[in-house]
Amino acid sequence: MRLAINIDHVATLRNARGGKEPNPIEAAKICEEAGAEGIVCHLREDRRHITDDDVYLLRRTVRTKLDLEMAATDEIVRIALDVKPELATLVPERRQELTTEGGLDVKARRSYLADVIKEMHAKNIAVSLFVNPLPEHIEISKEIGADFIEIHTGEYAEATTEKQQREELVRVQRAARLGKSLGLGVNAGHGLNYINIPPIAAIGDIDEVSIGHAIISHAMFVGLDRAVREMLDLVQGK
Ligand code: PXP
Repeated sequence: MRLAINIDHVATLRNARGGKEPNPIEAAKICEEAGAEGIVCHLREDRRHITDDDVYLLRRTVRTKLDLEMAATDEIVRIALDVKPELATLVPERRQELTTEGGLDVKARRSYLADVIKEMHAKNIAVSLFVNPLPEHIEISKEIGADFIEIHTGEYAEATTEKQQREELVRVQRAARLGKSLGLGVNAGHGLNYINIPPIAAIGDIDEVSIGHAIISHAMFVGLDRAVREMLDLVQGK
């Protein structure tokens, strides 16, 4: 299983003072040197953390794979087509939310998303759809041409009882199996941390996990290089 790291919160901290530190470009480099196989950033409509300049600089400096997380809005799609990340992960976005709150409603937005996927493919950008672990949504993702799904693990991560967590884990496992059987690449993410990652890391049908908050937070105490290596060991079942 591969580990992709979301560096948004390095930019959140930088923006708190309006200066240049800490530098998300430097953070991405450290993550890659520590073994991350992808760098993820979310260019939000309100630019609360990652900015347009960050995205263009990351495009020039990331050596592994740049995964641009983005709302499927005309403005951000135009930027993505220009930046040409290796992967665009389409997510729902509401201005007031603290973080992405759920998977895409691929059923309601089916034809719009299909058009965006076609535009991305015309520029050789692979597309991942961030979806809840619902079989119908995974089937629609395949039908409209997605290359990957990213299974939303938020319900699993936020489960408050062991029983609920087990049930959510089974939903993620089944969703991953379905995605694989349809020929999709399968990523997973949201709310994963050093405690809850092992059962997800054991799901062979998941190709990659995307983790941000837990790693950047842990890095405050142990440094980014070590925070990445510790997570990588868990993701690789060591
Ligand atoms: N995947 C997606 C689609 C997300 O929106 C986020 C949050 O930005 C993540 C993964 C990473 O989540 P976390 O920061 O909770 O690890």
